[in-house]
This record gives sequence, structure tokens and C-alpha cells, in this order.
Amino acid sequence: MTERGTILITGAGRRVGLHVAHSLLRDGFGVIAHYRSESDGVAALRAAGATAIQADLTRSEELRRLLATVTGKDEPLRGIIHNASLFETTREDVDEALAQYERFVAVHMRAPWLINTILAPLLAGENDDPADIIHITDIFADNPNPAFDLYCSTKAGLQNLTLSFAKRLAPRVKVNAIQPGPVLFKDTHTAAARERVLEETLLGREGGAEAIYRAVKALLDNPYITGASLPVDGGRRLAQRV
Ligand SMILES: NC(=O)c1ccc[n+]([C@@H]2O[C@H](COP(=O)([O-])OP(=O)(O)OC[C@H]3O[C@@H](n4cnc5c(N)ncnc54)[C@H](OP(=O)(O)O)[C@@H]3O)[C@@H](O)[C@H]2O)c1
Repeated sequence: MTERGTILITGAGRRVGLHVAHSLLRDGFGVIAHYRSESDGVAALRAAGATAIQADLTRSEELRRLLATVTGKDEPLRGIIHNASLFETTREDVDEALAQYERFVAVHMRAPWLINTILAPLLAGENDDPADIIHITDIFADNPNPAFDLYCSTKAGLQNLTLSFAKRLAPRVKVNAIQPGPVLFKDTHTAAARERVLEETLLGREGGAEAIYRAVKALLDNPYITGASLPVDGGRRLAQRV
């Protein structure tokens, strides 16, 4: 058992999830790092002491196997962070878009629902404080970009599940959402797209993965916040034109 208990984080193999997983380890938490693709990042997490478990969350049998591995450990969990995500514009072809929708629902809604439901009995906070579930959603859950309507609507579904689970699991577990804005651009963002996004962001810069970790840490450290959504977006939600 680690000093501060163990946290399961999904999509920990790269970028924000990888940074959050390393930061949790540094701060004394144990980490169960879920990942889809093997990578140097996953190897580095194992080397740093995380337990890494592979699963494609669109595949029910792999999701079930992930859950069986975690419950099989028969150890308490301090928290769960749902970070795994797909980010794509909606396909023009309707049949392709429908198949895409199933993947979005599976990763953003079905997997978090099942993981929370199956693992809730394992959740236990530090001292007498509640444990944590954190859903990483998006400012687009409230103010969608129509070109990403499938992505946005399923992130809005996850945002709504925050409220159901906050009600369902209280007072033992706090359940909150973090809504990132432009924290880390993708390689696919052109220079022009980056410039435009930053022009629409009050604080005028990319936030970085550390901004998300600090929000995670703030929620973990505060025993009296549940059913809340915390935008970590440099103010983009107030200024975005779409
Ligand atoms: N980056 C931003 O500026 C930004 C803005 C708004 C919201 N967010 C949210 O913040 C979180 C972290 O962002 P990010 O940019 O680091 O995300 P990302 O680069 O898109 O990484 C997402 C992670 O999810 C995993 N994943 C995708 N599909 C999966 C599947 N079917 N099964 C299992 N795992 C799957 C990926 O695994 P692979 O490595 O195998 O692909 C990856 O590790 C996400 O929830 C994202 O929606 C980020």
C-alpha cells in the first residue's frame, strides 16, 4: 500500500494522462495506469512503479478484463480519473459517422459508467474524507463546436454522468469534472489554428498538462467539493467564437 492510496487513471500512455500519472507517483500515490497502445511512456510509468494495464475501451471484453484485473487485486482505490478520449471531427459519410459515434460513446460514456459502477465498492478516501472520481470532459461539453458534434455530445454525456455519480455515491465518494480548454495542441493543429485558438483564450497561451494536474490535485485535496465542473481553459469558454 502506498502512502496516499492508489489511483486508477485511464489513457495514461501519453500527453496529459502520462503527465498526471507521473505526478501522482511523485506525490506519493500508487498508480494503476490504463493504456491502449504500448509506448515509451507506458514503459517509463512501469519503471517508475505504476501497474500498467492494457485495454481498448471500445472492446467490451477488454474493458471487462481491465476491471477483473483491478478487482482481483482486492485493494482499496483512493480514486479514479477518466482521461481516455478520442478527438476527431465528425465524418461526412453517415455510416462512417454512426460507427464513429459508437466509439465515442464507448470511450467517453460507457467505459466510465461501467468502471465507476464496478469499482465503486473499492473506493476509500484518506482518513475520514471521501474518495474521488474525476471525469476529464471539455469546455465543448457546454458550448459545442458543430464540426465535432459527436465528440462534444459524448463529452456532455460524461459531464452529466458526473452529476448522477455524485448523487449515487455520496457521501463516500466525491465526483467532479475537469473541463480542459487548449491545454496541449495536437500535432494536427496548424500554426493558423493555434493562433486562432489562442486569440480566443483570455490568458493567451496553451495551458500545459501541469494545469490539469494542479486541478486534479486541488480536487483530491479538497474534501468538500462534489458534483462540480472546473474549467481549466485560460478563459477560452468566455471568448470562443464558435
Ligand atoms: N489536449 C487538450 O488541449 C484538451 C482539450 C480539451 C479536452 N481535453 C481532454 O483532456 C484529456 C487528455 O487530453 P490529451 O490531449 O492528452 O488526450 P489524447 O492525446 O487524445 O490522449 C487520449 C488517451 O486516450 C487513449 N484512448 C483513445 N481511444 C482509446 C480507446 N479506444 N481505448 C483506450 N484508450 C483510448 C489514447 O490511447 P492511445 O495512446 O492508444 O491513442 C490516449 O492515451 C482527454 O480527456 C481530452 O478529451 C484535452
